[in-house]
Amino acid sequence: MYQEYSQSAAIIFGWGAVSILGEKVKELGCKKAMCVIDKGIEGTGIPDKAIKSLKDAGIGVVIFSGVVADPPVEVVDLGGDLAKKEGVDCLIGIGGGSSMDTAKAISILLTMPGIAKDYILAKPVRYDTKTPVILVPTTAGTGSEVTSVCIISRPDINAKWSAFVNTTYAIVDPEMTLTLPRRETANTGLDALAHAAEAMTSLDCNPHSDLFGEAAIRKIAKYLVIAYNEPSNVEARTEMMLAANFAGLAFNQPLTHVGHAAADAMSGHFHTAHGYGCGICLPAAMKISGPAVPAKMRVIADALGVSLNGSETGEQLGNLVADKIRELMRAVNIKSLKESGFAREDVLSFVPDVVSSHLCNHCPVKITDEVAYKVLADIYDSYQ
Ligand SMILES: [Fe+2]
Repeated sequence: MYQEYSQSAAIIFGWGAVSILGEKVKELGCKKAMCVIDKGIEGTGIPDKAIKSLKDAGIGVVIFSGVVADPPVEVVDLGGDLAKKEGVDCLIGIGGGSSMDTAKAISILLTMPGIAKDYILAKPVRYDTKTPVILVPTTAGTGSEVTSVCIISRPDINAKWSAFVNTTYAIVDPEMTLTLPRRETANTGLDALAHAAEAMTSLDCNPHSDLFGEAAIRKIAKYLVIAYNEPSNVEARTEMMLAANFAGLAFNQPLTHVGHAAADAMSGHFHTAHGYGCGICLPAAMKISGPAVPAKMRVIADALGVSLNGSETGEQLGNLVADKIRELMRAVNIKSLKESGFAREDVLSFVPDVVSSHLCNHCPVKITDEVAYKVLADIYDSYQ
């Protein structure tokens, strides 16, 4: 019995760290970089510091601003075409998970022939990509900067599939999140919480995921509400950025499980934001996992600040953790599925999507049709 764990890329963390981007690209021997961003961020000034750093270091800059939420394979192809046409030798994903994942997926097209659909698969494969990929998160949530997975949509089949690639650096600068709107602060923070808690309860958890997952949960429990209520609070922004990064490190190998599987079904059918879906599905994922992993659930409960007497059963711990997460969701004004206008019967119809998700292979409980139905009903009924 053994466990393998590693880190996907070197991390440069700190307030203002993005100013080192150009020097790092130069050190890699690259001459022309493509910044992969979404339209929404283009006019905000957020990527300007990164672009300035590249230009100051004498690096040519190409901007691909075609990223959309839940990026589809077609967007990856467009980015790949531009990167090839411009002859770029470095990819820089600046933004949330969508931009970073698109940059990662484009790197496949710079190493392999064909189009994105050939490589983004239901059962993801690792590709030995050659073009350096540098990831600069602008939200405190996704953790995509320290994972090698890219998640790309197939709108034709309402599915999100993925691939594994090589990444080079994660430049984690909390200053990039200072103007993040409250709704995104809440959604992305809950996504980070889901990464940490699902990684710790994954069948493939390891000492690395336990260490970083627990630390991430403690930080999120302490700082998410502060970052939400006081957006310019430097300490809260810094700690939330670190928490999201730790959560990303936690789930790189164990991945996530039934919470993310259900959230993916929600975003596939309802087009809900990833973080919102992950938050809304997490309590039910913890509740169902409690009896299977009681010791781990106790650590999560303690990290969340639940008061414990030491005699709780796994089932009770799962319920306590679920209640605490719902309390946190209310504190950052997360709307229920009902309040968002989604019907119970539609949510219950996602059973096949959940059961067929490869993520359920990591769940400590076997996800049958019956269990998936129970989880989906709990997601809808227990948070209204
Ligand atoms: Fe996530």
